[in-house]
Amino acid sequence: MKSPGAEQWVPHDGGMKKLRAQLPNCRGCELWKDAEQAVAGEGPVRSRMMLVGETPGDHEDKEGHVFVGPAGHLLDKALVEAGIDRSDVYLTNAVKHFRFERQGKRRIHKTPSASQITACHPWLTRELEIVKPALVVVMGSVAAKALLGPSFRVTQQRGERLELPGGQAAVATVHPSAVVRSDEFRRDFARFVDDLRTAVELLG
Ligand code: URA
Ligand code: SF4
Repeated sequence: MKSPGAEQWVPHDGGMKKLRAQLPNCRGCELWKDAEQAVAGEGPVRSRMMLVGETPGDHEDKEGHVFVGPAGHLLDKALVEAGIDRSDVYLTNAVKHFRFERQGKRRIHKTPSASQITACHPWLTRELEIVKPALVVVMGSVAAKALLGPSFRVTQQRGERLELPGGQAAVATVHPSAVVRSDEFRRDFARFVDDLRTAVELLG
């Protein structure tokens, strides 16, 4: 069955408070059914920098906050290295509900499909309208699909100054969970931090 998409649940007036209040009602795709909760973006509404990840993971789904699991811990370390205060930036995901497969008692993350990314996009669009970040950090291929289109390749264009269709400056980088899993951790962590430093420089 085709998803209706989130549009009809996204308020087009009011601010972040109203947006957050409406998010749990969303039935824009089927992901709400198995997840514990929708996980809203967090951070100051007037942040100059917005970082966009993929979806909540197991920890985020249970706790109801973005980037509180292993990828979040890595992101925290990288932000510190890059001189970015987590409490100064707005952190969100391209898709607001956790997608997973059960393996025994474990819930294994599954990458959201193209149609789920599209279905959830109105939430991200509205967050961009409300926060109006001067710079968006696009983390990983799901966020890149959502914000830069299906043909964008993070591996080829990471760390460059980009522009989103809405005109915001942006930098693409890998997803922190890819760094967590990397066989060449030190190298990949350093590259991730470099991309975040580029973001800081572009903000000026
Ligand atoms: N990965 C994400 O993309 N977002 C989170 O909130 C946690 C892990
Ligand atoms: Fe709505 Fe997004 Fe959740 Fe799908 S993933 S139900 S579109 S909030």
